[in-house]
Amino acid sequence: MAHQSVTRTAAAEHYADLHRSLAGLLAGEPDFIANCANFSALVYTTLPDLNWAGCYLLRGNELVLGPFQGRPACVRIAMGRGVCGTAAARRASVLVDDVHAFPDHIACDPVSRSELVVPMIKGDALIGVFDMDSPSPERFDATDQAGMEGAVALLMNACRI
Ligand code: SME
Repeated sequence: MAHQSVTRTAAAEHYADLHRSLAGLLAGEPDFIANCANFSALVYTTLPDLNWAGCYLLRGNELVLGPFQGRPACVRIAMGRGVCGTAAARRASVLVDDVHAFPDHIACDPVSRSELVVPMIKGDALIGVFDMDSPSPERFDATDQAGMEGAVALLMNACRI
C-alpha cells in the first residue's frame, strides 16, 4: 500500500536519525549503566507513541530492572517469562502486536497495548533486553525491529561490559 510504504520510509529515516544521535551520545563513553540510561532517554523522547522504554539486565538466571524511562515497573522477571523473558531465552527480538493476545505478558502498566523487546548481546554473552511499550495496538513493525536491533548493536559496541 502506497501510504504504508511512505510511513515505513519515514520510520526508517527516523531510525537513521536515531542511530546518528546515538553515535554522538555514546562516542568515547564506555560506561554501561550511563550509556543504558542515555539510550533509554533518547529512545523514549524521540520515538512517538511510547509509554515505557528501558533495560532489564541479566542477573544470575533472571532479568532485573535497569535504566529506563516511564512509570515504575516490575523489578524481576524470570528467564522465559513474559515478553522480556521470552526474548532473553530465545536471544531474539519479540514483537507483540496486542499484549492481551500474548498469554504470558506481564502487565507492569495496564495502559500498554503493544510491545517490542530486543535482546542485548555482547559477543556470545546475553547482557539483558531492551523493552519498549506503547499504548497503541500494533505500534511496532519490522522497521521498528530492525531499527532497534541496530540501535542496541551500537550500544553494545560502545560499552565496556
Ligand atoms: N511487559 C513486560 C514486562 C516489563 S514492562 O512492560 C516494563 C513483559 O511481559 O515481559
